[in-house]
Amino acid sequence: MDNQLLPCLPTSLSKLSRLAVLGAVAAAAVIGLGTHGAAPVPPATMKAVRIHDYGDGSKLVFEDAPKPSPAKGELLVKVKAAGVNPVDWKIRSGMFRGGLEFTMPATLGFDVAGEVAEVGEGVKRFKEGDKVFAYLALNRGGGYAEYAIVTEKEAAAMPKELDFVKAAATPLTALTAWQCLFDVAKLGKGQTVLVHAGAGGVGHFAVQLAKWKGARVIATASAANSEFVKSLGADEVIDYKAVRFEEVVKEVDVVLDTVGEDTTNRSAAVLKKGGILVSIAGDPDPAKFAERGVRVAMHLVEPNGEQLAKIGKLIESGDIKPHVSQELPLKDAAKAHQQSESGRTRGKIVLVVG
Ligand SMILES: NC(=O)c1ccc[n+]([C@@H]2O[C@H](COP(=O)([O-])OP(=O)(O)OC[C@H]3O[C@@H](n4cnc5c(N)ncnc54)[C@H](OP(=O)(O)O)[C@@H]3O)[C@@H](O)[C@H]2O)c1
Repeated sequence: MDNQLLPCLPTSLSKLSRLAVLGAVAAAAVIGLGTHGAAPVPPATMKAVRIHDYGDGSKLVFEDAPKPSPAKGELLVKVKAAGVNPVDWKIRSGMFRGGLEFTMPATLGFDVAGEVAEVGEGVKRFKEGDKVFAYLALNRGGGYAEYAIVTEKEAAAMPKELDFVKAAATPLTALTAWQCLFDVAKLGKGQTVLVHAGAGGVGHFAVQLAKWKGARVIATASAANSEFVKSLGADEVIDYKAVRFEEVVKEVDVVLDTVGEDTTNRSAAVLKKGGILVSIAGDPDPAKFAERGVRVAMHLVEPNGEQLAKIGKLIESGDIKPHVSQELPLKDAAKAHQQSESGRTRGKIVLVVG
């Protein structure tokens, strides 16, 4: 489960603190103006989808919120599209309380694509008007809004010719696949990888990235997604509903587990000696892996603008493509969460902001 990774998560909520500070500054300015007899200046606002409490989808409120302002090393991005990920509804539901607490009201959303509206002090790589995309740190978020703060380190130039919707569909899940396959598992040319849930947000990037690396790719998917996953480059697709994957897959070098539940521990049987399972969603029993002479690791994706720039180049060269199955307006964030919670999303869901 993701919440096993929560001890790694910092609990400081820098953006929300910043908004609180901004609110205080704005209030002080209004008081100051009032004493001189001028009309009060309202603080700058924007539309955002925020939660005021944890709970079901009805907690997502489309409303006015303070417009943030970039601090040192930060960009203010005019958000054009925001990607939706399972972590969004998991946080909204309160699943991560105790490890990842948000000060309310909180703006969720960790994937954005848009244009730089303003740069903070010291920003060197970006300027006003640049098109950027980014995965925002989990302890900050803020993507479901007309404007979001993105640190210079999180941002990358948007791939040329890519639209904002597809760009917003990319960062969190493509970075997850990249980091699991290449940083943790060290997947190499000629190796074989089993990607669980090859049709999902992470899985559809993992299949393409592994193929680009020159690996042989086996993926699991339901029959309805089999052709889609093959079109991404998978050499073999196993209908996990019809076949127990461990009965037909043997001796792989790497397993990427994006499913969790019993899929995690059952996967120990498909690895060759010395092979590795990387899980982003499971609760592996280390003994089950050790007794077979295989390794197991869990990974929590980290923002990384440099890696995202490399991913962007692969999109430009046509080696990988984000797949968006559903676009919704920002105000329909609750519908997007409902779809994500179904666990049946092909590729990605994206909210169109402006
Ligand atoms: N630790 C991290 O850093 C990190 C990062 C990203 C995501 N995650 C977590 O990883 C999980 C996956 O994320 P995601 O964005 O890829 O989710 P997603 O896009 O919602 O995944 C949906 C896909 O999962 C497939 N699926 C469902 N059950 C399956 C099964 N038993 N076997 C094979 N495929 C199955 C579905 O395909 P069918 O309809 O064909 O079944 C669907 O296409 C989530 O729990 C998420 O929170 C963790």
